[in-house]
Amino acid sequence: MYGIFVCLSPNHISIVHPVALPAVYGHSSGALKAPFYDAFASFKTRNMFNTISRTGHTRKRRIESQIFSQQSVRELEGTTRVHHIDLVSQWDKLYSYVKRAESDGVREGFNYWSFDIIGDLAFGDPFGMILAAKDTARSAKSVNASLATFSTSSNTKKFAFEMEELPVTEIIGQRGELITMLGWLPKYVRPIILMMPGFRSNLQAIPKVAGSAVTAVAKRMNDLDAHADMLNRLLDARDENGEPMSPEELSSEASLIIVAGAITVANTSCAITYYLARDQRVQAKLQAELDDALKADDSIVAPHDAIKHLPYLDAVVNEGLRLDSPAPGSAYLRGENASEFYPERWVEASGDQKKAMLDAFVPFSIGPRACIGCNLASMQLHTVLATLFHRFNVVLESDDPVRSQV
Ligand code: HEM
Repeated sequence: MYGIFVCLSPNHISIVHPVALPAVYGHSSGALKAPFYDAFASFKTRNMFNTISRTGHTRKRRIESQIFSQQSVRELEGTTRVHHIDLVSQWDKLYSYVKRAESDGVREGFNYWSFDIIGDLAFGDPFGMILAAKDTARSAKSVNASLATFSTSSNTKKFAFEMEELPVTEIIGQRGELITMLGWLPKYVRPIILMMPGFRSNLQAIPKVAGSAVTAVAKRMNDLDAHADMLNRLLDARDENGEPMSPEELSSEASLIIVAGAITVANTSCAITYYLARDQRVQAKLQAELDDALKADDSIVAPHDAIKHLPYLDAVVNEGLRLDSPAPGSAYLRGENASEFYPERWVEASGDQKKAMLDAFVPFSIGPRACIGCNLASMQLHTVLATLFHRFNVVLESDDPVRSQV
């Protein structure tokens, strides 16, 4: 609407063109993340996402890239599958659960599922939301006081600090709204905005999310027998001087994994479910592909190997990410039906046209700051959609995207 280049402020230009992607985000671009990302810092120690310095980021990225490699994600599938079985039985219950008038259960169900999986994979302990059918996680009442117990705790690692139960997905939403808005403002304006009454309650969300990360780390460190998980790898990591990550750095990385890993997958799964419910033709076509691929398999959860290369499922996932990416601005497509959910575009295109589409389609970004969790995200999205749409037919109860009936 405004053209390719828009000058948003004297030193801020928005560019909407695929050719700009490698120039800005590519490995050889030399560009650093902007002060926008300072607003995401909720601990004194930065995490991988909001570290601006190249050397600081490279150090973290090197440690964490092993955790999220294709190979590691394949190994995590076992943990995920066990967890999926639980999830599917909850989806069976969801059939009656979503009928409760006060609930918009589909969206909530995806949030609970996604948080439980991240809790399990990252900390060896699901949050227990899906079984409780409740948005709930324990969070340290004071981040500083809880972090202080890490240095005073004995070897038995019994961290004792005051905690509260919080609706963590709701609070992460409030935090996201606030910091995305703050990020766009000059740094000197941010404290003034935060003094305004309307923003104070959302401001509380920042330490609350941080508190839930500290609690997850402490809980994991209390349970020395927990299965090998992502935190294990962070605990084992050493810097060039042989030093482990500090409790604060661990908590900062943990909060990133919770925020980046759970809400993104939940939102995308929910959006795609909505598009499929809205378009019964596409849903039936996907189900036919799944029926064929899974006909020799009677397990509840679709095995990733059986569904990871299905062309129509791939197209459905791509189309969902294109239209409803949790990281907006990551897809660029022009044409008459560009705003329609039309998975066939990914199957029908070929040659230069397909290449141009793929060059412009970067839901996980590109370059050194691209999503490190994309392998995990892709596995979860493919598995959950295949599992659910092989088992259920989903129809819209109304035009409202969040009030659907399974
Ligand atoms: C549909 C799912 C997902 C999408 C669309 C997505 C997208 C993205 C994008 C676009 C970025 C770059 C953002 C920026 O620099 O401003 C990013 C970064 C990141 N994502 Fe994801 N993500 C998803 C799932 C996940 C999962 C499951 C995890 C891990 C459990 C994860 C962990 C991260 C981390 C740690 C970063 C920071 C990387 C760095 O700065 O080096 N993401 N993601």
